[in-house]
Amino acid sequence: MLHGSRQWLTGIGTAHGHASLHLGRTRLTLRPATPADLADVEQLVHDNMRPYLTDQGLSWNSEQFRRRFQEADNACLVSSAALVAFLSLLHADDHLHVRELQVSTDFRGQGVGTWLIRHAEALAGEHGHKPLRLNVMKHNPALRLYRRLGFRVTAETPGGLVMEKRLDTTGHPTL
Ligand SMILES: CC(C)(COP(=O)(O)OP(=O)(O)OC[C@H]1O[C@@H](n2cnc3c(N)ncnc32)[C@H](O)[C@@H]1OP(=O)(O)O)[C@@H](O)C(=O)NCCC(=O)NCCS
Repeated sequence: MLHGSRQWLTGIGTAHGHASLHLGRTRLTLRPATPADLADVEQLVHDNMRPYLTDQGLSWNSEQFRRRFQEADNACLVSSAALVAFLSLLHADDHLHVRELQVSTDFRGQGVGTWLIRHAEALAGEHGHKPLRLNVMKHNPALRLYRRLGFRVTAETPGGLVMEKRLDTTGHPTL
């Protein structure tokens, strides 16, 4: 069962200190998402995913997105107040599900996506070394990123793939 009632990302900025990433002179800060972020997050995910939805003959479902936002464990990566990226996790009994990994176009190709996946891996390592799992559409270039980070295809869905990365007990990937 997948649920977001565990809120690991909510701990950012408390026990773990502020998680931040420097891109040149720009400091990006990862913080828990709040309901006030919903409009900006929806805009980012909508803009990013529109080509893939169009490809599949699907349209954007705002109501579903908002419901899914509320049930997940979410974080925003921000530069000053501006949203740069969004990470959304769901906690299953046997794995950590990366539901959303979304980076705004201006910040792509600079290691942000890699850094966010590494962050999710670190959390999974701290909480029992559960494998990470995600769904990706077959034609999404993100597939290459996930392969590079050690994810392997474990199943196919209509139009998509399920990918998984196992961690060993030190939190490192199992190759
Ligand atoms: C996928 C995504 C999160 C990667 O974020 P990022 O910050 O650019 O990632 P990084 O800089 O750490 O790594 C870049 C990698 O992303 C991959 N990538 C994904 N989409 C890409 C795109 N549109 N153009 C170029 N590279 C892309 C490349 O393979 C690249 O891998 P490489 O470094 O081995 O060449 C980002 O492109 C994005 O938000 N895409 C739109 C939303 C999406 O598809 N999310 C994934 C849903 S499963």
